[in-house]
Amino acid sequence: MNRYALGVGAAAMVVGAAALADPNTDVALEIDGVAIKTIAASAHADNPIGDTLISGWHYRNDETRALQLDDFDNPAFLAVELGRELWEAADGASGKSCADCHGGIDGFAGLRANMPKWSEAAGRPLTLEQWINWSRKEHQGAEPWKWESEQMLGMTAAIAVESRGMPMDVQTDGPMAEWFEKGRDLYYTRTGQLDFACASCHEANSGMMLRADHLSQGHLNGFPTYRLKWQGIGSIHRRLKGCVQDTRAEPYAVGSDELVALELYVSWRGEGLDIEAPAVRQ
Ligand code: HEC
Ligand code: HEC
Repeated sequence: MNRYALGVGAAAMVVGAAALADPNTDVALEIDGVAIKTIAASAHADNPIGDTLISGWHYRNDETRALQLDDFDNPAFLAVELGRELWEAADGASGKSCADCHGGIDGFAGLRANMPKWSEAAGRPLTLEQWINWSRKEHQGAEPWKWESEQMLGMTAAIAVESRGMPMDVQTDGPMAEWFEKGRDLYYTRTGQLDFACASCHEANSGMMLRADHLSQGHLNGFPTYRLKWQGIGSIHRRLKGCVQDTRAEPYAVGSDELVALELYVSWRGEGLDIEAPAVRQ
């Protein structure tokens, strides 16, 4: 038996009837003429998921999937619009806007796909949120934005959409190696009263129904993501916190080293897939 398969008791409690359902792989995600790879060969032979990566989009029902096909229907685009406005707005002691220093936001095409990314100045990997706040402090002379503030979610969504259709591509060697190892360790660490690891749900049981939820491979290519349950858009760290909480464990804080390391490792597991942010999920 797989080391991370659920114990019989836990499986009955959480997975219920433990029905296996196939993701719908007969559909394709194309937005504004851009074809987005949501089913792809893994970029790594040693990816524990196996050969075929499938985005969470394929695990959602027809109505939820449809919301992502057209940006006018995608409720995350309110956040994208706010982000684009903020890009042009002067702020902080510099009196400058993001655009004054960086030019068009399309200059950041590909950036989301490389997150978290090593910072020489900080001597550590930074997530997109952390890069933005670093630049606000260092260059703009502005106050940091809170992780789940509408400004931060808007800006990360507006930057992420510029990478839509581009392949996930994170650095895992050199100084990133120890963060990668830490992330992998956390992925396989069982937590909480339910004693589940990320792998228990997204590796050993992906495809299973967890109550009303269809368990996916747990990819990050759609973040920030609009969740119907949240009635709003949320960050990677909010999603991961929720997953840890579901095991009835004390979650790691947003921006913590644990979640940065997990974000790095889970991004590597998704290499082969394209960025599809901002996604829509249940
Ligand atoms: C006063 C000029 C200035 C302003 C204003 C400014 N930045 Fe920057 N930013 C920089 C410089 C300089 C760098 C480091 C060099 C580089 O990577 O472009 C940087 C780096 C970044 C990076 C990392 C880019 C990378 O390739 O690693 C991000 C993300 C970023 N800024 C986002 C923003 C956002 C969002 C705003 C507005 C809220 C903003 N910056 C405002 C000057 C500025
Ligand atoms: C108790 C089972 C369970 C555990 C343990 C769990 N998750 Fe999840 N996770 C879910 C469910 C259910 C969803 C929503 C359906 C889906 O996309 O799988 C989800 C969604 C996700 C998503 C969003 C996928 C998308 O396409 O939007 C990511 C990423 C994720 N989980 C990562 C993790 C990580 C990393 C861990 C470990 C810290 C973890 N999960 C632990 C049940 C779990």
